[in-house]
Amino acid sequence: MATLDVKDIRFEKVAQTKEKTPEDKLGFGAVYTDHMLLIDWDDQEGWHDPRIVPYGPFSLDPATAVFHYGQAIFEGMKAYNENGKILLFRPDCNFERLNISADRLSLPDLDPEFALASLKKLLEIEKSWVPSSAGTSLYIRPFMFSTEKTLAVHTAKTVTYGVILSPSGAYFSSDLAPTKIYVEEEYVRAVRGGMGYAKTAGNYAGSYKGQDKAAALGYAQTLWLDGVERKYIEEVGAMNIFFKINGTYVTPALNGSILPGITRRSVIQLLEEAGETVEERHVSIEELLGGIEDGSVEEIFGTGTAAVVTPVGELAYRDKKYVVNDFKTGPGARNIYDRLTAIQLGKEEGPQGWSVEVCKV
Ligand code: PLP
Ligand code: COI
Repeated sequence: MATLDVKDIRFEKVAQTKEKTPEDKLGFGAVYTDHMLLIDWDDQEGWHDPRIVPYGPFSLDPATAVFHYGQAIFEGMKAYNENGKILLFRPDCNFERLNISADRLSLPDLDPEFALASLKKLLEIEKSWVPSSAGTSLYIRPFMFSTEKTLAVHTAKTVTYGVILSPSGAYFSSDLAPTKIYVEEEYVRAVRGGMGYAKTAGNYAGSYKGQDKAAALGYAQTLWLDGVERKYIEEVGAMNIFFKINGTYVTPALNGSILPGITRRSVIQLLEEAGETVEERHVSIEELLGGIEDGSVEEIFGTGTAAVVTPVGELAYRDKKYVVNDFKTGPGARNIYDRLTAIQLGKEEGPQGWSVEVCKV
């Protein structure tokens, strides 16, 4: 099968560029740029016809397999505009994870180097869309799904990969304000052997029931417990979770049912480089709640591409509320947020290869 080359990407320019939303009114995932990247795959030709075309709807047969059997994966990453420099943060990790998700969902592997090169080409075309005010970024959504027209249950013979771009503001509130999280005991997100470690559509569809319950009670997100004993903490709806317990940073160990967050991985490394102790281990809900009550849990915060670093000021579990650090943003969350975002914006030197310059506006 032919290998893909960026020079083969066909470009079809929009007739007229869209009007830009003011940066303070962007919201999250509400506005899209002029163009998108698409590449098709089939089991005869492999990946072919890479193209950058006007952003617009797909026309798919109602029998397209993805509508019925959910063979779909995605990634989430951001481009930053710092003084006219367009920067990506560890994009290689996203394309590595895309292939891990693809493998779990029986979708085809996409060459990570081509994935990055084609993203850079799209970004060069769309660079005027990368917002620059504090807390904003261009959210990048690579995705892949089965396009085969069949109701038969089998691995896709035809697939599309796409990248769409969304100028966005903060996912939760900006300014590192603490959020409130509901500990879900009835529903579970994933079990070992399932798809928890993959970034796949079904994991999110299955989480809405818990999320809606949490929202009705005034909580922003759900804290998921393990699917077998409902005892050990896994992660939050759209972020991984960290606890500062007696001065040590603790995060649930990756076990196959937790999404291996790129922000999580980066935060662990940055904390260790700053001389902090980080433990990746099982944390039971009893240990956590007991620690909040006796004061040994000093801080809780979530990490994610959309969420960045989000302090957690309150947990609800079985009708009881547990307030963390007086519902204030702690120094641990503040320091790691400052260091991480400084590297993402190219203001501070980070570990080699983390900040990747795409082009200048
Ligand atoms: N866990 C879930 C379920 C997520 O959706 C996300 C967001 O991508 C994360 C964790 C954090 O992952 P990352 O830091 O790679 O964005
Ligand atoms: C991300 O942080 O990139 C996510 O994918 C989380 C959410 C918006 C689904």
